[in-house]
Amino acid sequence: MSEQTSNQMWGGRFAAGPDAIMEAINASIDFDRRLAAQDIAGSRAHAAMLGATGIITDSDAEAIREGLLTVLSEIESGEFAFSKALEDIHMNVEARLKDVIGEPAGRLHTGRSRNDQVATDFKLWVRDQLDQAAEGIEALIRALLVQAEAGADWVMPGFTHLQTAQPVTWGHHMMAYVEMLGRDLSRVRDARARMNECPLGAAALAGTSFPIDREMTAAALGFARPAANSLDAVSDRDFALEYLSVASISAMHLSRLAEELVIWSSAQFRFVTLSDRFSTGSSIMPQKKNPDAAELIRAKIGRIFGANVALTMVMKGLPLAYSKDMQEDKEQVFDAADNWSLALAAMTGMVGDMTANRAALAAAAGSGFSTATDLADWLVRVLGLPFRDAHHVTGSLVAVAEKRGCDLPDLRLEDMKAVHDGITEDVFSVLGVENSVNSRMSYGGTAPAQVRAQVERWKEMLG
Ligand code: ARG
Repeated sequence: MSEQTSNQMWGGRFAAGPDAIMEAINASIDFDRRLAAQDIAGSRAHAAMLGATGIITDSDAEAIREGLLTVLSEIESGEFAFSKALEDIHMNVEARLKDVIGEPAGRLHTGRSRNDQVATDFKLWVRDQLDQAAEGIEALIRALLVQAEAGADWVMPGFTHLQTAQPVTWGHHMMAYVEMLGRDLSRVRDARARMNECPLGAAALAGTSFPIDREMTAAALGFARPAANSLDAVSDRDFALEYLSVASISAMHLSRLAEELVIWSSAQFRFVTLSDRFSTGSSIMPQKKNPDAAELIRAKIGRIFGANVALTMVMKGLPLAYSKDMQEDKEQVFDAADNWSLALAAMTGMVGDMTANRAALAAAAGSGFSTATDLADWLVRVLGLPFRDAHHVTGSLVAVAEKRGCDLPDLRLEDMKAVHDGITEDVFSVLGVENSVNSRMSYGGTAPAQVRAQVERWKEMLG
């Protein structure tokens, strides 16, 4: 079909074809071809239903279903010639179906519209992506569990404000990310369950006068039920927005871990060594080994959250029902999905490959007066001081150590007694980092026994 003549799908009303600029702004085939498999699955379900309800003949339904498989294989093999003049994937597929099977192809669009068609296709696509994301998140959780188990009792500094706070264990730190990713996983599952209603059969906006069976198409496409309001069904993009928010929160988690890896792999920290497989060199500085993958993961949240904002802005002022603005949903979601899954895979690779430098972690764990809280707690527990007084006494002891240029366990007893004469030799038992982490036995605390219990709980849950 030439660009000059009117569109074969609605040519009846049109004398001329679109201006080239109109075609450029209107056509979505360059990107929505990614919905081909979903479009064909949706059309096959629709055709089967049209046949089963007697709206079209069984032989037409069968011809359509077979023909659609031919079209699918042409698309999958790369021989399909996509046409911009046919605007989008829906019309490209239908036009080709007509070439392949002839007249019955024209009956496929009975009782439906591109509005319910695109909503169905896109939902199926997003649903697939959620399933893939769940797998990606789970793989990363497993990689973190391996790290956590190996280093359940490796001491390291815990930070607040990126200042040394209290000693923690490597395993505990890894398990913090496992918890975050676990929530991501549960958000993925929630989003999937909520979006699992089928728009197909809502038609353009009002439903249809044909005796369609929406339960049948919903079931054929693996939906829990048909969407209950036809206006809502064609104008809803909550599922895409929810996907983008789930992806944004997950990408934010990945970004935080990435940031820690960037810091930890620096010469100043040396907490971890990233593998060569996930590092790059510098073209000028021969000593450099850069954490580029971590930096790129750190940046991905920008475009993923950007997509979330962009689509929210697209949707916020739209009157019911369908408006063409909604065609702008796809590129945002496609880009976010590609980058989320890449970030998950890269992080899984990095975490799986990285080596925690146990000695560097331990050395840092004891510096920065990290057991000051243990000292204050000892003053409360053994000497019966109110915590606020204990805090003050400990602050004075830290000041003494700072002046001496030593850490708390290196202070002499008489220096301590000069600050508070009730202090005894026993205080040294709480100043070591091992003791500190072992004592944090509260549920969810950093004690190695607690960390191991959490690792076991997660392993059981993942099966
Ligand atoms: N390509 C369109 C989209 O992505 C399909 C739906 C078109 N519907 C319409 N009434 N023009 O949204």
